[in-house]
Amino acid sequence: MVKEIIDKLYLENNGTKEELNFLLDNLTDEDKKYLIQKAHETRMKTYGDKVYLRGLIEFTNYCKRNCVYCGIRRSNKNADRYRLTLEDIEECIDIGDRLGYKTYVLQGGEDDYYTDERMIEIIKMIKRKYPNNAITLSLGERSYESYKKMFEAGADRYLLRHETATKELYEKLHPGASFENRQQCLQNLKEIGYQVGAGFMVGLPGQTNKDLVNDLIFVKELEPAMVGLGPFIPHKDTPLKDEKGGSLEMTTTMLALVRLLLPDVLLPATTALGSIDPTGREKGIKAGGNVVMPNLSPTSVRDKYSLYDGKICTGDEAAECRNCIEGRINRAGFKVEITRGDNIAWRGKNKDIFAKDVDKKIRTENIFLR
Ligand code: 5AD
Ligand code: FES
Repeated sequence: MVKEIIDKLYLENNGTKEELNFLLDNLTDEDKKYLIQKAHETRMKTYGDKVYLRGLIEFTNYCKRNCVYCGIRRSNKNADRYRLTLEDIEECIDIGDRLGYKTYVLQGGEDDYYTDERMIEIIKMIKRKYPNNAITLSLGERSYESYKKMFEAGADRYLLRHETATKELYEKLHPGASFENRQQCLQNLKEIGYQVGAGFMVGLPGQTNKDLVNDLIFVKELEPAMVGLGPFIPHKDTPLKDEKGGSLEMTTTMLALVRLLLPDVLLPATTALGSIDPTGREKGIKAGGNVVMPNLSPTSVRDKYSLYDGKICTGDEAAECRNCIEGRINRAGFKVEITRGDNIAWRGKNKDIFAKDVDKKIRTENIFLR
């Protein structure tokens, strides 16, 4: 029965709530192997053995939000806060370019210091120096106008995990925040023309298989260009410090299911997955993952961007991570692809834009293509 559901997922890239629930409730070890094999076959059909690299720059750990799982939450007085300047960021991207990265991911807490004007200055600086490289932003919830201005300044993609698609669970984990606003932000980003990344955590306290099915159905319906998913890992200075974290098995199962539901999706094997298991990222790639985001942040701030305990790579220079990750990808039987790595479906719909990586004007005119 489970095997039939997996076959259907593989053939139709779709499944009902009931089927997905049944699958998660009854998955045996053998089924799991089969699921992962099918996810692998699916990625081979869409992206082949390629794994895309993104250089991750964690540019601020100030955050006005108070997500109960997160180590940089506002109430954590033990967090040693930092902000990177424009020059710091420039240095990171120069190193990144030399290491061959064609995408920079600027990630930070929700920090009001980075106004639209400051973000636009950063985006323009990067696009001036490296017009062919892609910029991914990951700065949390902002207004429609703000997203739009940053897109027009040259930002290409935006990562905003929905975290969980179950409203009650979302509200428990995000005191004072609105589930609806988060969903609206994702819609806004999509409408503006970003390649959007949604995503969720696996193994959150109180999360059931039903909640995970909600996440799967949610990403299937949203059809984002990317889905970032990783295990929840407790952080010592948060209210969830004594909770159990998400498992490698559950995370790779979810990666495989997302690959089957969205064959074209860009799916990172996350640092969190690499942090709960020494070969977690390799296992994530084998379960359908096709993106890795090695760290490009200055080593002086690495350990301060502490979302969860036991994060890997905090002591490694950018070049070390670059080499380490390529070796890991090769040994796992895959190949590093040094291109921008746009979502293939998005690339198809935006052929002209993609070909020339044209300026903002043309891009804005072509928003309707999405
Ligand atoms: N464990 C795992 N992932 C976490 N994130 C934040 N805190 C944790 C944690 N304790 C994830 C969230 C966020 C992303 C940047 O990191 O999903 O969107
Ligand atoms: Fe950073 Fe391996 S990827 S040291």
